[in-house]
Amino acid sequence: MSASVSFDSQPSLFQPTKVGRMNLSHRIVLAPLTRFRITISHAPIPEVVREYYSQRASTPGTLLITEAAVVSPQAGGFPHVPGLWSDEHIQGWKEVADAVHAKGCYIFFQIVAIGRGANLESLHDHDPSFEVVSAGDIPEPVVESTSGPQFAGTIPRPLTKPEIDQYVKMFAETASNAVYKAGFDGVEIHGANGHLIEQFLREGSNNRTDEYGGSIENRAKFLLEVVEGVSKAVGEDRTSLRITPWLHDRGLAMKHPIPLFSYVVAELKKRFPNLAYLHAVEPRVSVIDDRTPDADESNDFIKALWCPRPLILAGGFLRDNAVQAAETDGVLVAFGRRYIANPDLPYRLMKNIPLNSYDRSTFYLMGDATGRGYTDYPFAKANE
Ligand SMILES: Cc1cc2nc3c(=O)[nH]c(=O)nc-3n(C[C@H](O)[C@H](O)[C@H](O)COP(=O)(O)O)c2cc1C
Repeated sequence: MSASVSFDSQPSLFQPTKVGRMNLSHRIVLAPLTRFRITISHAPIPEVVREYYSQRASTPGTLLITEAAVVSPQAGGFPHVPGLWSDEHIQGWKEVADAVHAKGCYIFFQIVAIGRGANLESLHDHDPSFEVVSAGDIPEPVVESTSGPQFAGTIPRPLTKPEIDQYVKMFAETASNAVYKAGFDGVEIHGANGHLIEQFLREGSNNRTDEYGGSIENRAKFLLEVVEGVSKAVGEDRTSLRITPWLHDRGLAMKHPIPLFSYVVAELKKRFPNLAYLHAVEPRVSVIDDRTPDADESNDFIKALWCPRPLILAGGFLRDNAVQAAETDGVLVAFGRRYIANPDLPYRLMKNIPLNSYDRSTFYLMGDATGRGYTDYPFAKANE
């Protein structure tokens, strides 16, 4: 098999597809994965981060999505997560994007504002005037979690209207830095997993009484403004959005999320029909944990509204259900935990080679520069 593999007569999962400006050679995507191999000043640790992404770009024509990067110091509140506001950040991430491009692959940069899940101490490390903010003033419940560090519990201060405008600008500026300074192929707006954008969407965190609270239309306003700001900054076809309609954690579960997310997807289609892609997480996963979905929980409503535009689904995929999803729905499939453990995942899936198991204890090693549980998972023999 040659370096640029041809998959004719293969299942759709292994066949080329166009997404935004990218010509992908298959439909397997690296899901965004926070790993904390980032310095305390929010730059990628040079020894390991470039190597980690470069390894996962071992099949030409693969789309990778980075871990979430915060759009400014005040939008953060986690130690060892990336940013993209300083020259050091931009230079570090440019090296990552260049390494991925050198291997014939593509890379989108995921951007986030944390909101009420922020750690006040981490915010104060930047500036003692920073506060934990959100859509409303409902704190995140403190629960036992395997979803990484939890700083929940602080009563957030609702963002003012001028601050909301400022956040939209921060998303747009970070997108611009990602595409025009660091050389990424586009950005993925993180509207998922209970972070600030989703805090506006859901009643479990949004108790505002102004035009950003109350009705579905009002709660979706911030998200749509961010998509507009980012699209204007870098182009619709370099902009994408991740959503988690079936989120069950962080005090944000909804009995009937379909009307809210149908509105979001319908508005996206109307206002931004040329988005690079929409990315949705399946109901069998909430944040990073598997769950058993109810019989009526499904992303079929998104497929009906959005397809045939590019749709990435993530959450609990293995070879068989990924092949099936690509075949029946024409979707792309993002892999998280299995791609952590299998740097050559596309190759292994194509060849049906057994997968390495992942080690959850090394998912989050804050500031670790050794590569342990990060760059040391083995490649399949024939693909070394
Ligand atoms: C260690 C870890 C870190 C994650 N970090 C992010 C993140 O930064 N942004 C995001 O949107 N999702 C994040 N997720 C969720 C994954 O992108 C994905 O939706 C989830 O792992 C389910 O997919 P899987 O079953 O293939 O692992 C993370 C998941 C894990 C396991």
